[in-house]
Amino acid sequence: MKLLVALAMAAVLAVFTSAPTAQAQECEYPPVVLMHGILGAAEKITAVVDWIHEAIPCAYIKNMEIGNGPLDSVFMHMNDQVDNFCEQVYADPKLARGFNLIGFSQGGLIARGYVQRCNKYPVINFLSWVSPQGGQFGGVEAFAPPWLVVLFNNAPYSDMVQNSLSLAQYWRDPFNIKAYMEKSTFLADLNNERLHKNATYKEHITSLKTMMLIYSKEDFVVNPRQSGWFQHFRAFSGPGKNGVVVPLRDSLFYKLDYIGVKALDESGRLQMHESDCAHADHPTPDCKHIFDLYSLPLLKQRWSEVEDFWSRR
Ligand SMILES: *[C@@H]1O[C@H](CO)[C@@H](O)[C@H](O)[C@H]1NC(C)=O
Repeated sequence: MKLLVALAMAAVLAVFTSAPTAQAQECEYPPVVLMHGILGAAEKITAVVDWIHEAIPCAYIKNMEIGNGPLDSVFMHMNDQVDNFCEQVYADPKLARGFNLIGFSQGGLIARGYVQRCNKYPVINFLSWVSPQGGQFGGVEAFAPPWLVVLFNNAPYSDMVQNSLSLAQYWRDPFNIKAYMEKSTFLADLNNERLHKNATYKEHITSLKTMMLIYSKEDFVVNPRQSGWFQHFRAFSGPGKNGVVVPLRDSLFYKLDYIGVKALDESGRLQMHESDCAHADHPTPDCKHIFDLYSLPLLKQRWSEVEDFWSRR
């Protein structure tokens, strides 16, 4: 009888002592960080958090918020938003080993800013959802009040506008490239378009396992919509019937490989996909099919596959 009790107690003890080890087991999939768009908020893209949880229950997900959300997305300088993003990532030890990063709309520029300027906690796959990666020109009528449209048409590169509105900081005016090069306080630097290139930017971009770019043929917010694929208007051409969008592989940005997009492309690590969703719908149930098709397969790469990629570099 004593022996039975002792055995039973031993069994109970074994269960108790082994439980913490089981709990501490890491998820076999990397964490995911999300960054929302302009005038948005983390709480407005929780559908995406749910989709990831459903597909990968153990995944750690960080739905990033910068400042108060909607207002700071417009009025905090893009450089400061990137700095804030970096600080929040570095403050989270769960992201230290690396993570996948999804940026929606303007959030895709902040996310890329993290990769190029920070990336001490390395991004594995960078997923850009309808982001103005090649800059924005025109199209503000769709979402901005008339006074703002006038401001953008007249003085996008004045110090006052550059220092107060995030949109201005990635405004790329094809009729005024000289002013853009000289005065843009964010995108001209991030896209390494100036004479002096930052080698770190390219080093970090080419360390990605995959860069996945989504543009939508139904996008009436990002202008030109192909900016989602790093494309921009040809100089002296813009919205309207004469507008010509330079194909990515014909651009100097690509040919001279300012940030490493060409290198990714040539090693099979650049994915360019087309979506049929309206711009704002991408993080909503109306566009889950695009998430399932292009984003989920990248999020479902196991740590073992990631480690394998890192060891072969
Ligand atoms: C290049 O970018 C890195 C990361 O942001 C920065 O630390 C460095 O100062 C930059 N170098 C130059 C020459 O601007």
